[in-house]
Amino acid sequence: MEVVELTHPLIEHKLAILRDKKTGTKEFRELVSELAMFLCYEAMSEAELEEVEIETPITSLKTKKLNEDKYAFVPILRAGMGMLEGITRVIPNAKIGHIGMYRNEKTFEPVNYYFKVPKGIENKEVIILDPMLATGGSAVDAIELLKEKGVTKIKFLSIIAAPEGIKRVQKEHPDVKIYCAHIDDHLNENKYIVPGLGDAGDRIFGTK
Ligand code: PRP
Ligand code: URA
Repeated sequence: MEVVELTHPLIEHKLAILRDKKTGTKEFRELVSELAMFLCYEAMSEAELEEVEIETPITSLKTKKLNEDKYAFVPILRAGMGMLEGITRVIPNAKIGHIGMYRNEKTFEPVNYYFKVPKGIENKEVIILDPMLATGGSAVDAIELLKEKGVTKIKFLSIIAAPEGIKRVQKEHPDVKIYCAHIDDHLNENKYIVPGLGDAGDRIFGTK
């Protein structure tokens, strides 16, 4: 499955501010939200619409609308929560699930601590949100948990993705399409994305 990387001057501009270590919590949070909105816009480009008939002030019109109820967005806690505000501004009626995961600082393996998804999730298209796709461990585990619940249509939205993480998701879940704002260069010895933006969760929530 191909990876969609947003290539647009506005995205590059916003990423430059996001990556800058001088950017403070408020602006960082706003940028994560805005970039999530652009990613969502791109990911929904294949959405199937349903025919509806409406009345404009002038005439009646047969047109098409999205059935928002067919979609569920699932942020991976914590950092994925930062993307939710932008997403719900665009698709306010989508259902929301939560997957709690953090990376063990020594093994870099994800530890799952919370899982709550909307009823009937198996009948929805699920879009996972996490600003950072590094080793891909968290993404692969989150996808597996959703597949165990019967979900068959999954997309993964990240702001920055490392080639290592992309490769791993593509190998273990070739059916999952990845959308990212940028594919970075590599992971460092601590499995942080280079050049990256540091720790997304800490920068969104101001915890360090
Ligand atoms: C970050 C990020 C991803 C994960 C990516 O979360 O938000 O969930 O690391 O790394 P991986 O691809 O190597 O699994 P983190 O563990 O820092 O938790 P947090 O969101 O609670 O800060
Ligand atoms: N998690 C982050 O927040 N940043 C990285 O670079 C890698 C994992």
